[in-house]
Amino acid sequence: MIVVTGATGNVGRTLVRLLTGQGHEVTAVSRRITPADVPPGVHAVAADLARPVAGLPAAADAVFLLVGGDLMMTGDPAAVVAPFAHYGRIVLLSSQGVVTRPDSLSHGRAFAAYEQAVMDSGTDWTILRPGGFASNAYAWAPSVKAGRTVAAPFGDVGLPVIDPDDIAAVAAAALTRPGHSKAVHELTGPAPTTPLQRAAAIADAIGEQVAFTDQTREEARAQMLAFMPAPVADTTLDIIGTPTPREQAVSPDVEKILGRPATPFADWARRNAAAFA
Ligand SMILES: NC(=O)c1ccc[n+]([C@@H]2O[C@H](COP(=O)([O-])OP(=O)(O)OC[C@H]3O[C@@H](n4cnc5c(N)ncnc54)[C@H](OP(=O)(O)O)[C@@H]3O)[C@@H](O)[C@H]2O)c1
Repeated sequence: MIVVTGATGNVGRTLVRLLTGQGHEVTAVSRRITPADVPPGVHAVAADLARPVAGLPAAADAVFLLVGGDLMMTGDPAAVVAPFAHYGRIVLLSSQGVVTRPDSLSHGRAFAAYEQAVMDSGTDWTILRPGGFASNAYAWAPSVKAGRTVAAPFGDVGLPVIDPDDIAAVAAAALTRPGHSKAVHELTGPAPTTPLQRAAAIADAIGEQVAFTDQTREEARAQMLAFMPAPVADTTLDIIGTPTPREQAVSPDVEKILGRPATPFADWARRNAAAFA
């Protein structure tokens, strides 16, 4: 039995599918999950990890722990980890920010506290530290759909964003195969791409012209505050505007673990073209 939290999100949805496809028994957890959200045979448990969780299996080989939404900033790491401490292994989705932005409350310190809670839990563990997700481009979907435009800051600053399906594939390996005990994997895409290049890839994927408008940092921040807390917006803007050399570097870990290169952004855009069409 493998428990997957964040099971309806970008990473968790694919992870549930991969694990069931490999024949594993899966329990899928999120606050609003219903049986309609998961493949047949998967046990769906609606639970808020911020509160005592009911309905989890008494025993499991491993759990994929995703600290979603506000939980990362507001949750008590030891309390969130505790219901899973007697499982065989915890695979935590953390953030590269733990090493590149250690002083940031959101990307550094909050995730470092979850990593520590997992390491202190007494069970085996694996930590996944991804950089920025390709799926952050969903924020452009409404303007691409409505007017074939993308407005973004730092159009020519490149980052090797990672396909969430690659994170899910690495997580599946860490949950089910040997060789990941007490390992920390840093996960990036195969090459840096700029916002301009990502907008062009989306245009190619939908077969339409998409115009790119440069935003100032302040304009972007005002938009981001509508759906994320200020510390998250500020550190995110620091990363996409003035990335450190490590944030711009391509990590070898995805290829080492999966035996194939990480997926290019253009492939993510083609697979998700319907969101922008
Ligand atoms: N985006 C990036 O660039 C980036 C980079 C590094 C790390 N990360 C980290 O990656 C994670 C996001 O992954 P994602 O994109 O796959 O997630 P996502 O698409 O944002 O989905 C979040 C998932 O978590 C569930 N969830 C949220 N709050 C919950 C709670 N209190 N209790 C139980 N379930 C909860 C959501 O379902 P319900 O709403 O039904 O609960 C959903 O299944 C976050 O921890 C983020 O900090 C992101």
